[in-house]
Amino acid sequence: MKGIILAGGTGTRLHPATLVVNKQLLPVYDKPMVYYPLSTLMLAGIREILIVSSPDCLPHYRTLFGDGSGLGLSITYAEQPRPEGLPQAFTIGRDWLAGAPAMLVLGDNIFFGNGLGPMLRRAVASVEAGGGATVFSYRVEDPRRYGVIAFDDQGRAVSIEEKPERPRSSYAITGLYLFDGTVCDHAATLTPSPRGELEITDLARRYMDAGTLHVEAMGRGFAWLDTGTHDSLLEAAEFVRTIQHRQGIQIACLEEIAYLQGFISREQAEARGRALAKTAYGRAILTAIEDTPAPLPLGERRKGDRRQG
Ligand code: DAU
Repeated sequence: MKGIILAGGTGTRLHPATLVVNKQLLPVYDKPMVYYPLSTLMLAGIREILIVSSPDCLPHYRTLFGDGSGLGLSITYAEQPRPEGLPQAFTIGRDWLAGAPAMLVLGDNIFFGNGLGPMLRRAVASVEAGGGATVFSYRVEDPRRYGVIAFDDQGRAVSIEEKPERPRSSYAITGLYLFDGTVCDHAATLTPSPRGELEITDLARRYMDAGTLHVEAMGRGFAWLDTGTHDSLLEAAEFVRTIQHRQGIQIACLEEIAYLQGFISREQAEARGRALAKTAYGRAILTAIEDTPAPLPLGERRKGDRRQG
């Protein structure tokens, strides 16, 4: 499975903060927003990643991550000339995907919770083995701001609507999607919605209609945070700060995850930790090395494993 981060858009709801800085590069407490969705892909065990952003912002991502080898990843970059909808990730990424299944994560989505990693790795294995698509549902206070999924009595998904006036349930679809290798063909035949965008909900509905959409519930144990407005951005930062301070852990410390997942060597992790040792972020890398002296082969877990999720 390959991973795509969609990190473009105009960020108009965050103006003037995003007049010259791409939204996904703004800090969420102590690290750039894009670290969080990247950590989600890494926790899923994904190492081949495409970052899609606007032509003027893409160079910043290149500066930030390079070719990804510092994190044991292979990162490629692609331009989205205009933000015309989330499914464009698959028309832009078509050649790069070359028929592989994909996990798409929106650059402004933050996931955190106990068991997140195993849940993601199960979803990857399921789509790799059986095809179809997987989306994650999450109960929210105001579903009108999201893609909304409704279920019948047997818990089967029966409707998916983008930002409905009258939502048929309180369950939003999060900005994390897994699709099988046919996704690019489906994306190529979508047409713009009345608001003029290609909609990810239309893409997911194709799979629902074919009976191949799996819906995983993210329950009370998970945090799914939104960063679309000034208030939700601040709330997300406060959440990250609270957990990090209380537990003395880092959320989305990429080198820590890379080390614990066995993506990078102890020496690589140590060098990054030392370079950043003045920060809690850098110290978390060094602590991970002390606690787990040898990185684990991917997928294996050890008692007391500190890995996020
Ligand atoms: O966050 C989950 C929600 O994300 C889902 O529930 C909705 O079904 C889905 O449509 C999406 O809704 P948003 O209103 O949050 O999408 P937005 O247009 O804000 O875009 C989400 C991120 O993707 C944002 O960081 C900008 C980026 N983006 C967006 C578009 C439309 C792009 O990079 N390119 C694009 O063309």
